[in-house]
Amino acid sequence: MSEPPLSLSQSYHERTKYDPATIMQRGRALDFSQQPQPFKEYKFGTYYDLKPYLENPEAAQSPMGRLSRLLYYSYGLTGVIPQPEQPIYLRSAPSAGGLYPAEVYLVAREDAMLPPGLYNYQVNTHSLCHFWSDHVWSGFEEACLWHPALRATHLALVITAVFYRSAWRYEDRAYRRILLDSGHLLGNIELTAALNDYRAHCIGGFLDESLNQLLYVDRAQEGAICAIALADLLKVDQNLPPTQTALPSPITTNYPSIADGALLSSLHQATQILTAQTTYSNDVPSPAYQDKYNFPFCQKIPTQSPPIDWGPAGQGLAETLHTRRSTRQYTGAAISLEDLTALLDFTYHPQHYAEQALEGHSDFFDLSLIETFIAVSDINGLEAGCYYYAVHAQELRQVRFKQFRAELHYLCLQQELGRDAAALVFHTADLKAAVARYGDRAYRYLHLDAGHLGQRLNLAAIRLHLGVSGIGGFFDNQVNDVLGLPADEAVLYITTLGQPARRR
Ligand SMILES: Cc1cc2nc3c(=O)[nH]c(=O)nc-3n(C[C@H](O)[C@H](O)[C@H](O)COP(=O)(O)O)c2cc1C
Repeated sequence: MSEPPLSLSQSYHERTKYDPATIMQRGRALDFSQQPQPFKEYKFGTYYDLKPYLENPEAAQSPMGRLSRLLYYSYGLTGVIPQPEQPIYLRSAPSAGGLYPAEVYLVAREDAMLPPGLYNYQVNTHSLCHFWSDHVWSGFEEACLWHPALRATHLALVITAVFYRSAWRYEDRAYRRILLDSGHLLGNIELTAALNDYRAHCIGGFLDESLNQLLYVDRAQEGAICAIALADLLKVDQNLPPTQTALPSPITTNYPSIADGALLSSLHQATQILTAQTTYSNDVPSPAYQDKYNFPFCQKIPTQSPPIDWGPAGQGLAETLHTRRSTRQYTGAAISLEDLTALLDFTYHPQHYAEQALEGHSDFFDLSLIETFIAVSDINGLEAGCYYYAVHAQELRQVRFKQFRAELHYLCLQQELGRDAAALVFHTADLKAAVARYGDRAYRYLHLDAGHLGQRLNLAAIRLHLGVSGIGGFFDNQVNDVLGLPADEAVLYITTLGQPARRR
């Protein structure tokens, strides 16, 4: 029997794989003078300066102060690399290649603390540009398919992507990195919301055309990726239960041949929801979470760990967000098993952190579709090799025992980070199963969730004084072959962990 045709997202994934046989043909010199600006400019609008609220600790507790902190610690400028022509600004969220394709918008309802309408978060000046002052909330609710969290809330964020900022460098494969970046940002938003008495309710299913029109974005250049209702926890009626986060799109299997260079936009189109075929339910359906892989007679290492201590009122988290940087070089030295298990605890078990003023129920889209494998090069007390992390049983299960350093260097496109890290965390998914559940939009949810997990790993590592960096470029198929990952598991993302020689 012949195989059913691949959905567009599966086809995109196949076609954007890096492969040793073709990678050299992809290489082209980049003209950095042509690098797109990572900031959006508005010709008209009223500006609200958010800096004074950050600088004055008393003002920080005011409604505007809480919003100012939420935005700053999620996506604000936290670093600068001087350059001869113009400096490179770094943000509290990491971004593949430092290209920052994500934009953040604020939507305010009639009786919010700001005049109603639409705002763009101007990262370079830490201000909000009020570019549309009409009443948009009911249109926003409609575009978000009447997500239940929007009934009670008065503020919401929307993350969009300006595709070319990343496609300029990464071409069609940029869509993967754009979504991973946005997932990192979502991780920050969720945590900083909790620190500032907000609860971020993620809304992954929305009518794309309607939301893009509402935001006045140029749909050829930019598109909404995710909306977030910001529930004010200081208001009784906004203390809402967790809600459903994801809705399916159709599956596109009947598509013409797509030229290289047009794949990114074709996939983005295919992941859209254009008509209200399904809506949100008030109850969060509990997906059948279970550990997918068990291997007969394999060695199992328990990973239960005391929670990471984020300090009084989670203040250590704000410091971590402020100082976080991706490690540029590892020493190659070991990390401890205690550190690894603490990282896993924070990343996959948010419920252990509700007592530390953090969100105890993370709004992932669907973690039951994502698996975790860890390549261990040097962890004290753990044999080198590849392990499956069984999240629910909280144990590592051996897949292969071997020192993979040389292979990891090669798999990560010769990046030394891969060779010198103490461990590499691989997030993977069965794309066919994910598409069967969420249509082509599954591609968004999987990469957003992988980025979100990556950000939790990032923050936990920095808190434990470890080094950490994402890796978005790898030889896809060879990762499965070398590490012994099941062939159905598409690799979404790699996070490297180790002893930092140099952060930046
Ligand atoms: C999705 C993603 C992929 C990344 N891939 C790589 C990579 O392949 N190699 C690398 O050295 N850094 C990688 N990084 C780290 C970025 O280069 C880094 O975040 C960016 O330069 C900004 O610096 P900062 O994280 O220190 O703020 C990645 C980051 C993200 C979020």
